[in-house]
Amino acid sequence: MIESLNIPKPDDFHVHLRQGSLLKLVTPFTAAHFSRALVMPNTEPPILTARDAVNYAAELRSASPQGMNFQPLTTIKLTKLTTNVSVENAAAVGVLAAKFYPQGMTTNASDGPVNLHDLQPGVLDAMQESDLVLCVHAEAVGVFCLDREIAFLPELDEYVRVFPRLRIVLEHLSTRGAVEAVEGWPANVAATVTPHHLVLTLDDLIGSELHPHSFCKPVPKTLDDQRALIRAVTSGKPKFFLGTDSAPHWRTAKEESGAAGIFNAPVALQVLAQVFEDAGALGRLGDFVAAFGADFYRLPRNRDRIELVRRSVRIPNDYEGIVPLWAGREARWSLTGQTPLQ
Ligand code: NCD
Ligand code: ZN
Repeated sequence: MIESLNIPKPDDFHVHLRQGSLLKLVTPFTAAHFSRALVMPNTEPPILTARDAVNYAAELRSASPQGMNFQPLTTIKLTKLTTNVSVENAAAVGVLAAKFYPQGMTTNASDGPVNLHDLQPGVLDAMQESDLVLCVHAEAVGVFCLDREIAFLPELDEYVRVFPRLRIVLEHLSTRGAVEAVEGWPANVAATVTPHHLVLTLDDLIGSELHPHSFCKPVPKTLDDQRALIRAVTSGKPKFFLGTDSAPHWRTAKEESGAAGIFNAPVALQVLAQVFEDAGALGRLGDFVAAFGADFYRLPRNRDRIELVRRSVRIPNDYEGIVPLWAGREARWSLTGQTPLQ
C-alpha cells in the first residue's frame, strides 16, 4: 500500500477568495496548498477591468503569508457592458481569463448576460486574438435546475465551431453529458472538476434532511453523473484538471439564506487523494492537480512539491465561521507541507 505521495505543488484553476475580512481569512488556506490560483471575479463589486484586476491581485498578495510562494492569477467578469477594449486591456496586464456567468445562475450573477449571444459584438473575437481564456459557468437560464448544464451544451457547441482558436474552459462539470461533450470537442476546450462534485450527489443535499453545506452551483447530481466525473478525472486525459470552486460563505449565509458554494480549500487535496485512491488511480493525481491545468493555461509547471501522507485526520467542523466540505469527517490522507525540488 502506498504510504506517501510526493507531487508538484498543485494549481487551483477556479477559486473564490472574496474580499475584505473573508479574503484575509481564506486566502492563506489556498496559499498553503496551491502554487497558483485562478481567482474568480464575482466579488461585490465585481472585477470588470484591467485596473480592477491589478488592484485585486495586490489585495490577494498582501493576504498571502510571506514565504508561501503563492501566485494569485486574475480574471475579469463578462457583462453586457464588456467591450473588446476592456478585454485587450485586461490581457495586456496579465489577466488570464474572462468569466461568463449567465444571469442569476449563481452567487453575484444578477448582472450577467443571459447567454453568450448577449455579449457585445467583438468581445469573443478580442479574447481569441489576445489569448484570454473563456471560462464558462455552463448553465442555461430559464431551464429546470437539474437540466441547465446539459441545456447549455448546444449553445457552446456553436461557439466552439465559430472560434476555433479560443480556449474555453467549462467550469465545475456536474454531468455525464458535459463530460462527453468536452471529450468530443477539440483540444482548445477543457474543463475543471471540483472535489465536491466527485464526492457528493443530490442525495447528500436533499436525500434526508436538507444539508445547506452541500449546496453549490451547479447542484451535485446523480450517482451516474458522479461516476462519469470520477472516470474523467482519473482517466489521465489532459482535458480535465482541478478547479476547486472553493466558494466560502459565512455559516449564517449558508444556513439562513441558502447561499450556494462550498468551502473546500483546506481539504481539497486530502479529499482528492481519497477519490483517486478508491478509483485505483493515485498515480494520476499529480497530473490532474498540477500539470494538465498549467499546460492548458500555458504556464510553466510548478517546481515546488508537496507530500501527502496516509494519516487519518479529522476535518474541523468550522474555520472561524466557515464550514468546510467533509466537516467533522475523517480523511485518510493529510499533507506534510512542501519541499523544494532539487
Ligand atoms: C460560487 C460562489 O459562491 O461564488 N458558488 C457556487 O455555488 N459554486 C459561484 C460559482 O462558481 O457558481
Ligand atoms: Zn465558482
